[in-house]
Amino acid sequence: MKLINKKNKNYTQVFHLFTEEEWAKSGRNFHKNISTFFTGKKHDVFIQVHEEGTVYFIGLGKLGVQSFEVQQVALKFSQTYKEKIQAVPTLVLADLMSERQFEEFIKGLLTGTYHYPFEKTHAFWNPGFELHFENLSQKKLDHIGKKAEAISNGQTACQEWLNKPANLKKPDIFSLYLKNLAKKYDIKYTVFNRKKCEELGLGAYLSVNQGSAYDAAFTILEYKTTVKNARTFGLVGKCVLFDTGGISLKNPDNMHYMKSDMGGATAVLGTLIYAAEMQLPVNIVAILPITDNAISEKAFLPSDVITAYNGKTIEVLNTDAEGRMILADGLSYLAKNFKTDFLIDLATLTGSSVRMFGDTCGALFSNSEELKNLLLTTGDKTNQKLWNLPLWDIWKDDIRSDVADLKNISMKPIGDCIVAAKFLEQFIENHPKWAHLDIAGVAFGNVGYAKEKAATGFGVQLLADLIENYH
Ligand code: BES
Ligand code: MG
Ligand code: ZN
Repeated sequence: MKLINKKNKNYTQVFHLFTEEEWAKSGRNFHKNISTFFTGKKHDVFIQVHEEGTVYFIGLGKLGVQSFEVQQVALKFSQTYKEKIQAVPTLVLADLMSERQFEEFIKGLLTGTYHYPFEKTHAFWNPGFELHFENLSQKKLDHIGKKAEAISNGQTACQEWLNKPANLKKPDIFSLYLKNLAKKYDIKYTVFNRKKCEELGLGAYLSVNQGSAYDAAFTILEYKTTVKNARTFGLVGKCVLFDTGGISLKNPDNMHYMKSDMGGATAVLGTLIYAAEMQLPVNIVAILPITDNAISEKAFLPSDVITAYNGKTIEVLNTDAEGRMILADGLSYLAKNFKTDFLIDLATLTGSSVRMFGDTCGALFSNSEELKNLLLTTGDKTNQKLWNLPLWDIWKDDIRSDVADLKNISMKPIGDCIVAAKFLEQFIENHPKWAHLDIAGVAFGNVGYAKEKAATGFGVQLLADLIENYH
């Protein structure tokens, strides 16, 4: 793919972008023959075929259209027409388009080429595909092209791994992928197997992993910048490759969705790819505690009392509340061993957050006004929205145990996503800037590229934007 600042005489393919207002004011008069077929409304597309070539009229919606909406338009356009669009030099006409909007347009075109399942054939998106756009300098176009490609690579990797069926993403397979990825991007890769985790005392993580047929893989990925005094982001992603519920077995009806229980980890993965490709001037320490939550004779049992990495004891009352167990050790290991400015965890953590917000937004919890506001603003900007929920201490009473410091569920049918967040808070080792994103309802759902629920890529553009613009 190339973005080029030029305009030739003849094109066999043109993308002609209009807002409703532009269309009403001038476009409609200029293109009289199609004025009854095209309106400029959001997602409206009219294809005009001439002898010389094809013009795609693309509606952007109202004049003040937000940038993320331009990405939505391009995404849908790309998904719908990727078989028809030719890999040829293509003229883009968009008179009033801002630089940001153009960037979002390219991101949408590119992320829209994601095929499911597993086809990497980015139909029209090959070196023969050039977009010619006169309104921006070549320097700006180069930067936009690079950003769009990096976002697309990050988001595609995220979606690809989340969508994989359980048998194709066993812990060893995913670990090998991460190891190779780290090599490719010059990211430091560390992994602790079961033996090492036992030595280190990662008991909460191990309690979930002990029932697995696969070895533990508590994975640390460190992206480092050469820029001095750069900020450090600590990221923890829930990485349960399949969640059967363990001995507290799930109902089978929707169990196949639980291949998506690594949605926190894949969001972190996509962000790392973006940061590395863009060489962002920040440091990132990412922890992915990889395991499945299996049912086996070795699996942990309700009533077990285990000791977490930070020394706190946990009474396990439900083995299906496994995410908070592995995140507990992920968070305290990160907090104790690395100095970070921000500590953010992402997890497909609770059905409670799904019942509350459905697929409209993720649930946000934070002990820092600064980080909370940053995340809320970036969520609105990227349309990967979050809604803030409380971390009041009243909720802590609900996780007091008679036999341990904490219990892993409250046993009350209320506000489990808040209870879970309150549980995690006990493991951040007083980190002053922590946020927890419960993305159970938004990581996996309705998408334009598949009939059934599939990976949305939630979290990648959110974190990428946050880290890129706040360092
Ligand atoms: N992975 C699930 C949460 C989940 C639910 C993710 C729906 C995506 C869609 C988590 O491990 C879990 O099982 N949570 C239980 C906790 C309960 C036992 C306290 C839940 O929410 O039902
Ligand atoms: Mg579970
Ligand atoms: Zn889970």
